[in-house]
Amino acid sequence: MVDTKWERIVEVLRCVRCDAEEVRLCGKGVQCGRCGVVFPIEDDVLDVRGDAGDRAVTRAQRWFESALGSRGYAWARRTLSYAITGRSFDGEVEALLAHLPIPSHALVVDIACGPGNFTTAYARRNPETLFVGLDLSTAMLRCARAEAERSDLENVAWIAGDAQNLPFRRSSLLAVSSVGGFHMLPDLSKALSEIARTTKPGAAVAGGAFARIRSRLAPLQSALATPAGLNPIDFDALGHTLCELGFEDYGSDGRRPVFQYFWAKKCDPRPWSAQRKTN
Ligand SMILES: C[S@@+](CC[C@H](N)C(=O)[O-])C[C@H]1O[C@@H](n2cnc3c(N)ncnc32)[C@H](O)[C@@H]1O
Ligand SMILES: [Zn+2]
Repeated sequence: MVDTKWERIVEVLRCVRCDAEEVRLCGKGVQCGRCGVVFPIEDDVLDVRGDAGDRAVTRAQRWFESALGSRGYAWARRTLSYAITGRSFDGEVEALLAHLPIPSHALVVDIACGPGNFTTAYARRNPETLFVGLDLSTAMLRCARAEAERSDLENVAWIAGDAQNLPFRRSSLLAVSSVGGFHMLPDLSKALSEIARTTKPGAAVAGGAFARIRSRLAPLQSALATPAGLNPIDFDALGHTLCELGFEDYGSDGRRPVFQYFWAKKCDPRPWSAQRKTN
């Protein structure tokens, strides 16, 4: 499975350095046929981050790159998120999957996957589908890999990369998830453009993030978030941007105002009969 897994993944990869689609598996990882750069695969994690760019820049990103930050997060996530979202972890997964149809035998990407909690939960429920968790932090991906191994999951793979410069080809993905990552990005609009670029017509996108508070507590939220480099999301603006980028059926909700979920579908201009054949 390991080899065939990377063979499948390489079919949808592009070079993040020169944008070429001629990339292939080589002894050490994945090599670009145009600029020649080799992106290593080590311990089953493909690393497409460069030395200079595509690295942690904010305090929060650097915290998640540390062993303490990643392990602490993996350990505390369920309890913290229950307190923040009012949902159990399984409840979150089911709520997201209600808006994220997972095509069988497809390749689905979980952006900012962290310790792979959602990636592995999706993979357990959909053994025929290959799930790729992408995160900036290799410390997080180590936790993700360990969890996949403990659960004997073979339909998952991990990429160390940047949500703002996705290593996937244009129109290559049918479903994308991203929970807990959007508020961490210095340039969310870039990441949204990347999701729009890489998704096929009819593709589903769903996720969740910290929401910008509109109440009297707004100054407190920005006093806490700004120094860490966190940008809580304006979910109305997110809907507008996704609409401008060619998505429709946008929705968002959450039991508590501080953390919200969202979903949308990439517009599919093709006739219904053609949509049925390829999706
Ligand atoms: C709060 S964790 C969310 C993990 C998981 N998806 C969850 O909901 O529990 C946020 C993750 O975003 C990742 N992250 C931050 N900036 C990123 C970027 N530019 N590209 C990819 N991942 C990023 C961090 O490394 C961290 O693992
Ligand atoms: Zn290249």
